[in-house]
Amino acid sequence: MAASEAKVTEGEIYYPSEQVRERATVQEYESLYQRSIEDPQGFWAERAEELEWFQKWEKVLDDSNPPFYKWFVGAKVNIVHNALDRHVQTWRKNKLALIWEGEPGDMRTFSYHALHREVCKFANVLRSMGVKKGDIVTIYLPRIPEQVIAMLACAKIGAAHSVVYGGFSVEALAERIEDAQSRVLITADGGWLRGKIVPLKDTADEAMARQPTIETCIVVKRTGQEIYMEAGRDYWFHDLMALPIANQTCCTDEVDAEDPLFILYTSGTTGRPKGVVHTHGGYMVHIYTTLKYVFDLRDEDRWWCAADPGWITGHSYIVYGPLLLGATSFMYEGAPNYPYPNRWWRMIENYSITVLYTAPTAIRGLMRYGDAWPNRHDLSSLRLLGSVGEPINPEAWRWYYTVIGKERCPIMDTWWQTETGGFMITPLPITPLKPGSATKPFFGIVADVVDDHGNPVAPGEEGYLVIKKPWPGMLRTILKDPERYKTQYWGKFGTMYQTGDSARKDQDGYFWIIGRMDDVIKVSGYRLGTAEVESALVSHPAVAEAAAIGLPHDVKGNAIYTYVILKAGVEKSDKLAEELRNHVAHEIGPIARPEQVTFVDSLPKTRSGKIMRRVLKARALGLPEGDVTTLEE
Ligand code: WTA
Repeated sequence: MAASEAKVTEGEIYYPSEQVRERATVQEYESLYQRSIEDPQGFWAERAEELEWFQKWEKVLDDSNPPFYKWFVGAKVNIVHNALDRHVQTWRKNKLALIWEGEPGDMRTFSYHALHREVCKFANVLRSMGVKKGDIVTIYLPRIPEQVIAMLACAKIGAAHSVVYGGFSVEALAERIEDAQSRVLITADGGWLRGKIVPLKDTADEAMARQPTIETCIVVKRTGQEIYMEAGRDYWFHDLMALPIANQTCCTDEVDAEDPLFILYTSGTTGRPKGVVHTHGGYMVHIYTTLKYVFDLRDEDRWWCAADPGWITGHSYIVYGPLLLGATSFMYEGAPNYPYPNRWWRMIENYSITVLYTAPTAIRGLMRYGDAWPNRHDLSSLRLLGSVGEPINPEAWRWYYTVIGKERCPIMDTWWQTETGGFMITPLPITPLKPGSATKPFFGIVADVVDDHGNPVAPGEEGYLVIKKPWPGMLRTILKDPERYKTQYWGKFGTMYQTGDSARKDQDGYFWIIGRMDDVIKVSGYRLGTAEVESALVSHPAVAEAAAIGLPHDVKGNAIYTYVILKAGVEKSDKLAEELRNHVAHEIGPIARPEQVTFVDSLPKTRSGKIMRRVLKARALGLPEGDVTTLEE
């Protein structure tokens, strides 16, 4: 341990092995961290120098109009230039960029050269359709290489992408298309999940009927079953890619560092999902730096981020991050336990994966099948593990560490959000670990736990998790709703970014994330809003009013429980409850299917008519109801 390192004293502690420490690029944390937060702009500017810019910035940070911060002001750049173009000028041209395995067992690989070629071709197709800067292209695909290609092709020509997770359904897709006013939709005939076809095109057709802004729909052939193709609107991806227009040379647009790279919809406290806006410049620097330092990727690595590109984890650490580093990434289409619970472990052995980055829910799900499944495989290629999406319970942490990592592989428990763009609180390979703690803030990030007035709380006490200084990967605004950006994230504490999470810090300065303080529910690591589930329920003709809450679940972390008041004259029945659960799954997606629908005659409300979900939750868990002075009845 370097002399400058803080002592770690409290709780169950795991130290990195000699080998891990020897390999680590960053050999100590404390003094580097101190320096980085004394001069965050200097720290980030130095990292930015490692990437290529068409034109350098005039100013690292423009904070003249908070909370609308700008980074690398005046610079010209394109993230795709750094993710692809510059690598094909080097020996990495023939290095593997992407190894992909489909659920049925088919496999495809792309060198940097091949990925660059496909992206150029598709970018030319999009350009020929008139897609340009200022447009938002909606992408609704299964976890297949075309998803990566489509995202990069949009960015290359300066258009923003809005990726809608392939597990979402009709209403979720329709409202995202509408908000973005997309004219182009990219989808597929289907994707494979648990041996069955997920009929994406059918869902897309229904969504397009609800939101007729789409003029062109490009369809990737993945599963090959009959689908409806509307003449003049729907085109096969492979047909377009065979046209002369799809040639292999395509110049990359020089955009402003602050130009939008993508919109990603996420659930918030109230109402509809909001379109979080990320940019080319700052986002690029943030995810490049975090992935490089935290997972210490090198050319010999095989990186596997087992998320879906449809969520921020996939955007940052399947698509952009690994390519910025010139790494080799692995991507898998289907379910972790299909056809058997050893699917993941077999792929780690087959492809010699060196780093696995996944969510606690997946670990808990696979842990249930016992140690024999992973023990049948040689997992010795692994050198680091990662976790994201929700707090990891110590039991799952120990299993992951012992049975998967064989006590050799430190676990990087990374805390961050769609809004933050990249890792914010996270260990480094050299950090002493405590199961369940995301440990300490990343370089340049000033995080704290505060009380209602914004004052830091004492060690061990629970409070609001806040970020006290701007960082380059931060969201810039909410699409078409800057007011909401201001109130939701900066409304409570003014100059501090409010994360929506509660947390505590221990004596050693380690952060322990407790969970959401707002009406966001994390189901299997996926982020859903109570309002979305409730509005899906009331869109059913039998429902008058509805409330949704999250309750603890062994595998999913949280599960959705709903309370429904039926319209007068409608009979309560198990059949109707089942129909309502299916209705939510049809409107939002299978991940939002409520665990339970309970029929009630009234809901606890404040006098101003707001549903008191806190009271519902307390009742369901048999806990004291707390302060109910504002309760109506
Ligand atoms: C939760 C996912 C504990 C947290 C990248 C946050 C975590 C929300 C962790 C953001 C972690 C994410 N430990 N909780 N390591 N990582 N969370 O936008 O509640 O889908 O606010 O981004 O996930 O979810 P989102």
